[in-house]
Amino acid sequence: MSNETVQAVRGMNDILPDEARLWLWFEEVVRDWLAGYGYRNIRMPLVEPTALFKRAIGEVTDIVEKEMYSFEDALNGDHLTLRPEGTASCVRAVLQHNLLYNAPQRLYYSGPMFRHERPQKGRYRQFHQVGVEALGFAGPDMDAEQILMCARLWQKLGLSDVTLQLNTLGDLDARHRHRSKLIAHFEQNLDLLDEDAKRRLHSNPLRILDSKNPAMQELIDAAPKLMDELDEDALLHFAALQEILKRHGVSYEINPRLVRGLDYYNRTVFEWVTTRLGAQGTVCAGGRYDGLVSQIGGKPAPAMGFAMGVERLLVLLTEGGMKLSEPDVDVYVVHQGEMAGILASRVAEQLRDADLRVILHCGGGSFKSQMKKADASGARFSVVIGDDEALSNEVSIKPMKGGDQVKVGVQDMLAAINTFIKQE
Ligand code: HAM
Repeated sequence: MSNETVQAVRGMNDILPDEARLWLWFEEVVRDWLAGYGYRNIRMPLVEPTALFKRAIGEVTDIVEKEMYSFEDALNGDHLTLRPEGTASCVRAVLQHNLLYNAPQRLYYSGPMFRHERPQKGRYRQFHQVGVEALGFAGPDMDAEQILMCARLWQKLGLSDVTLQLNTLGDLDARHRHRSKLIAHFEQNLDLLDEDAKRRLHSNPLRILDSKNPAMQELIDAAPKLMDELDEDALLHFAALQEILKRHGVSYEINPRLVRGLDYYNRTVFEWVTTRLGAQGTVCAGGRYDGLVSQIGGKPAPAMGFAMGVERLLVLLTEGGMKLSEPDVDVYVVHQGEMAGILASRVAEQLRDADLRVILHCGGGSFKSQMKKADASGARFSVVIGDDEALSNEVSIKPMKGGDQVKVGVQDMLAAINTFIKQE
């Protein structure tokens, strides 16, 4: 066996305790925020049949073509994929368990997603999303609800520089008409297309509009616009959404080139972007997907959702100077001697009964070395017990951020700590 230490898979990160504190805090904020809108948690497996993602996301998307972790289960030959996103799984679960039977659903999930992309800041191969899906809602009131929700979360998090980009993709017929016109437009200019665009010409011409190739920009700018094909219903839907956003003072920019990298969208699509993360500036994205439920085999039902990238949001927060000042521990119990040890474990349990967070020193050592550990733990107080204290059933309490140590009877310990807390 080699002596080399084993490293994590490239693009898949450990989240170490100092950082995990921020994750826990974020998850709590998000849970409260979602509860405030009546969204309920759903948890799906991390692995799904590969066919699900091919069908939902689209065969000729970047995700399905080159980013999925797909494998054959060696034990039974099943074709499986680590989920690259949550919408397909969520819809699958809703249909499998008949959740749309008599009520629409407001759902959310959170957890890791997997895409084999080139890792860089804000882009990982295992990353985390919080995803929100509302199934069974057709009107623009739901589109507005979800966008307003996002705006509220940014406000709660103190993020002032994420901006909203909005577009409508219209309905299927309009998309088909637009698609034919696009193909015709690009076919007339075949010599101006790069290899990628040629490959996509008939499979996914819409993605050509996404190309960053400067040589093709003029051709792209001159391409037929989907806006010109939209049906009245879709236009009214989009206008109604904008009306609600304006009423709530949410500003947005309409970006006709916003097309999204997954095929299931129709009508409203949106992205929240920041300029602070370089090329990975989209922190949250989603839209309407009225066709997906029937595409996965259910009775047709309209739906709308979005997902945010947790890593990207947390980078924004930490780079914005956010720090959690709350310590992880309230009390560190230091003890030396056999009787002291017995009292110390009793005292630690009593403190926990009062909902304090307590580390009971393990592993012995001098008072001095134990006090160093108490300091390093970030605890607000240490409770110090030697055999003298144990004999008289007393403890010494020391505020770690300065202040005089006091010696009190065990029965008065909590009151003394509470007095200290009030003085903090
Ligand atoms: P998406 O745009 O593919 O949409 O991903 C949503 C968000 O996940 C992105 O805006 C970004 O913040 C984050 N993200 C995506 N890929 C990575 C990565 N490699 N590393 C770090 N963060 C990443 C969806 O996944 C749809 N399921 C959203 C949705 C829900 N639409 C309707 N409902």
